[in-house]
Amino acid sequence: MIIEDEKDVTKAVLSELARAKNPRFREIMSALVRHLHDFAREVKLSEEEFQAAIGYIVALGKHTTETHNEAVLMSGSLGFSTLICLLNNGNRGQTETDANLLGPFWRMHSPATANGGSIVRSPTPGPALFVDATFHDADGKPIEGAEVDIWQSSPEGFYENQDPIQADMNLRGKFTTDRAGRISFRSVKPAGYPIPIDGPVGEMLRAQGRHNMRPAHLHFLAYKPGFKTLISQIYDPDDPHIETDVQFGVTRHLIGQYVRHDGSERAPAEGVGAPWYSIEHTFVMERGAARLPRPPITGKAEGERPQIPHLEAV
Ligand SMILES: [Fe+2]
Repeated sequence: MIIEDEKDVTKAVLSELARAKNPRFREIMSALVRHLHDFAREVKLSEEEFQAAIGYIVALGKHTTETHNEAVLMSGSLGFSTLICLLNNGNRGQTETDANLLGPFWRMHSPATANGGSIVRSPTPGPALFVDATFHDADGKPIEGAEVDIWQSSPEGFYENQDPIQADMNLRGKFTTDRAGRISFRSVKPAGYPIPIDGPVGEMLRAQGRHNMRPAHLHFLAYKPGFKTLISQIYDPDDPHIETDVQFGVTRHLIGQYVRHDGSERAPAEGVGAPWYSIEHTFVMERGAARLPRPPITGKAEGERPQIPHLEAV
């Protein structure tokens, strides 16, 4: 159609889209065009602002590599990743869910580790942490034989893949749930960490006056055919950034019960200095298709420890 005014351009795009054969594609693209055009109308987007927006999108691509995905980071920083997670889990957002963000640091082929074993694979200073996790279905029946990947940052705030000082696969492990649906392991208490701010995400955070910290957490990925793969994180309520996670991942349901133990209590292993910590958590897996996500990274970064600056919220 020949466009007479600003309203016609939306109609023209939508009428062309009507030719698309795939109905779901048509639905998504039509809604995207309507919202995108209405967004520009609502804020009266100037030509300069439009050019700046295009620059942001180009920069997302330019800052993405094999070991870093700036688009995922932007999606998280806008709360979009958590929105998608909550819309698609917990009976489509009707009930609480243990599902959470995958994040950028899951690796495949974590070392198989026996229950009760340790995922500390090279000297890692920090307080000991003993983790007990149970997996059951929606009816409370234990799930035996689920493979559970664990990964976490060190008490210094680095994942092993970022940090040449840590051994390959340090603070990562793959466990199998026993007849009671349980796994257990020893680790060290994770710390919060900053997300990179050398790209468009950093520019956006500065403009919004936000910090770039994620609160401390443990990552879980539980896989068993017949169940939807459960991707989860358990957050530390004592972390100073628990209320303001830069990725908006913290849901009430996933705040963990980290218990601090002082010197008078006996630790579950020999040679554990005080204070040490323990945590117990029960996860619910929903029935569904077991699928593994595409690993965001494939190996260890080389060279120096990264220097990721901390932004202060203003
Ligand atoms: Fe993480």
